[in-house]
Amino acid sequence: MIDVGSPDVPPEIESVVMSEQAISERVRELAAQVDADYAGREILLVGVLKGAVMFMADLARALRTPVSMEFMAVSSYGSSTSSSGVVRILKDLDREIADKHVLVVEDIIDSGLTLSWLLRNMRSRGPASVEVVALMRKPDAAKIEVPVKYVGFDIANEFVVGYGLDYAERYRDLPFVGLLRPEVYTV
Ligand code: PRP
Repeated sequence: MIDVGSPDVPPEIESVVMSEQAISERVRELAAQVDADYAGREILLVGVLKGAVMFMADLARALRTPVSMEFMAVSSYGSSTSSSGVVRILKDLDREIADKHVLVVEDIIDSGLTLSWLLRNMRSRGPASVEVVALMRKPDAAKIEVPVKYVGFDIANEFVVGYGLDYAERYRDLPFVGLLRPEVYTV
């Protein structure tokens, strides 16, 4: 377990919110739940770029259920730190998802607006089922109720980075999730 102050933690990180080990244990637990629920079926994982990349890669490898993988990239109009719910598709799925069991893989649900739009979009394509697995959720930031079957961690409404999550495209490569010092994004 690495601590703030270790050379592996950038000085802009105020505290470690979820260690690499805690994430890995939770990913294994989520995978076991998904495996139990989807026994005998195949899953189409739909990862939402870019934040979900690390979670998708680890979850896919932890699952025993056969999966295929698709990615979608969307951009929410609004400021860099809050979404508006008006979503633009930057990269669409490469294949049709009709009759597939779709599991949308998200790194974080903040306001819920992106996911709400995405679920409507997925359902309009005629899949056999659509569920969501999100590594993190911020209950205090919710602006809309979204049904999420699998949640890794409920976290406080604070600016976290790492394990796929960025600030200005940095910190996605950190193996843990940490709290960014406010002075980094308020200056
Ligand atoms: C993040 C995250 C979700 C969305 C959640 O993506 O990956 O898709 O924001 O916010 P919401 O619940 O308020 O809609 P972002 O737009 O930052 O893109 P990125 O994954 O490429 O960093």
